[in-house]
Amino acid sequence: MCGIVGFIGQKDVKNVLLTGLETLEYRGYDSAGVAIYTNNEVIVYKDKGRISHLRQVIGEDASTMGIGHTRWATHGVPNQVNSHPHTSQDGRFTLVHNGVIENDDALRCKYFAELKFKSETDTELVVELLSYYVNKYTQVDVAIRHMMNRLKGSFALAILDRDNPDVFYVVKNKSPLLIGIGDGFNMVGSDAMAMLRETNKFFELNDKEYAIISRDKVEIFEITGAIIKRDYFESSIDPNDIEKGTYKHFMLKEIDEQPFVIRRILEEYQLNSHLYIDENILSLVRSADRIFIIAAGTSFHAGLIGKQLFEKLTNIPVEVYISSEFVYNTPILSISPLFIFISQSGETADSRAALVKIKSLGYKALTITNVKGSTLSREADYTLLLHAGPEIAVASTKAYTAQIAVLSILAYLTNPNNTFDLQHELSIVSSVLETLCDQKEVVEECARELLPTTRNCFYIGRHMDYFVALEAALKLKEISYIQTEGFAAGELKHGTIALIEKNTPVIAIISQENINLNTRSNVKEVKARGANTLVISLKSVSADGDQIVIDDVHPLLTPLVTIVPIQLMAYYAALHRNLDIDKPRNLAKSVTVE
Ligand code: M6R
Repeated sequence: MCGIVGFIGQKDVKNVLLTGLETLEYRGYDSAGVAIYTNNEVIVYKDKGRISHLRQVIGEDASTMGIGHTRWATHGVPNQVNSHPHTSQDGRFTLVHNGVIENDDALRCKYFAELKFKSETDTELVVELLSYYVNKYTQVDVAIRHMMNRLKGSFALAILDRDNPDVFYVVKNKSPLLIGIGDGFNMVGSDAMAMLRETNKFFELNDKEYAIISRDKVEIFEITGAIIKRDYFESSIDPNDIEKGTYKHFMLKEIDEQPFVIRRILEEYQLNSHLYIDENILSLVRSADRIFIIAAGTSFHAGLIGKQLFEKLTNIPVEVYISSEFVYNTPILSISPLFIFISQSGETADSRAALVKIKSLGYKALTITNVKGSTLSREADYTLLLHAGPEIAVASTKAYTAQIAVLSILAYLTNPNNTFDLQHELSIVSSVLETLCDQKEVVEECARELLPTTRNCFYIGRHMDYFVALEAALKLKEISYIQTEGFAAGELKHGTIALIEKNTPVIAIISQENINLNTRSNVKEVKARGANTLVISLKSVSADGDQIVIDDVHPLLTPLVTIVPIQLMAYYAALHRNLDIDKPRNLAKSVTVE
């Protein structure tokens, strides 16, 4: 994971770097550092902790060029020495790295058996390798090409050369990197958001490419040294989308955005007032004898709902796989399968590994993602965008609802015989979401009563509600650190009910007529054993005493609304415990390591 930035030009370099890094903290936040070029010297400031801490320790030096890094540790604990940037022992090169070098040990043995490395990172190997090749071949670009040829794994690098105040270098393989272009300056970042305050014009950098960046020029090269001509693109991300505005946390802002996200999806997937998706994509889905949905975390949970939508609306059988499992335990595939990848970031390494595998087998893939131009989007045959706007909080909220909404439109349009009006049903969802977002106090009160000091919690449900219970458990555990499990309500009595004791919180989700009474019986069973219960139900299946009752929506779309009080419950549980809601411990937003 990790985020990197680099800048050259007449501006307050340190501030540009630090502000960019703050935007990239979603990629990791256990240590941070910058290197700035000043008076023919490269000065490094780095430490364990967040960018806010780095701001306090950084010096006053003026500069016209620098690079920066925010870290999610993979090699070595978070501490000052392991923090980036890393400098070669001859003092000439300083670099920041996002990714993992897979042949780190082999290269150390081969080239640096005698060298005493300072840190435990794989990055230090990279900077030494570059210095080794510069000593051998003199020219930095030639050395970079040799280094790229040697390294295996993922690496986005930004490199300062102490002996050249006019340029810095960037290298990309598998980890994301964009080049931002401006008037009198140029810069790089792990994503566009890190640069949006300075520019909205970008060059994409592809795998196995490197670039030489000066104040007024960007030159992009293939690994062979051949120069590449590339057009820039303009980002349509609104810089306001990456600000918290009046909200205390991005998570709450993003929960509140969900009604608008559904409306935006309805606008984006519309032609002549009717729902619309490119016919090539629809024929691809129609020609599949089986759909394999592959995703991780929250996106996997959206995929479980996607299965219900496809099977009910198209009759095409669907299997849903956790990306990291699919790669190493690939199931028997059908004759004409279609692979759908779901990923908010479009950068998840586990999902990418699965995509690489199925592409190597010659199959077609469709990616559903929030990030245009992301790796999973570029490498699939087709992409459907979520149009949810940047999701900054580590806990995914609006991406989940957007994923389900887009899946519902795809499934619906795949089968021309569907007769109900999905457009209308989704606009009802949007209104119900708005009402739910206006009633936060009810959920806050429930969280205060049920979860103030508990160490564990259970979510239960059947059918659609069971899949939502899985997402509910992930949401609560990842930001409140309460050990939470989601269970099929009927399964409790087969073992897990042994864990229920006095005051154990059990939250039941009830949105479907056919499971209403059964789930209610399960609630009674746990209550009889001392549990503190709470029921979230839809109006048509509600009963006296249900604490949270939601207006009705189409039965296939209930996860879009039942999830909202659950997201809020997680938010308030974490808030009441005074936790860092947007950046929970040990996690990162974009998981770019396998
Ligand atoms: O970007 P992706 O959707 O591929 O990310 C997959 C998971 O890492 C992600 O959904 C994660 O589980 C959420 N941040 C949890 O809220």
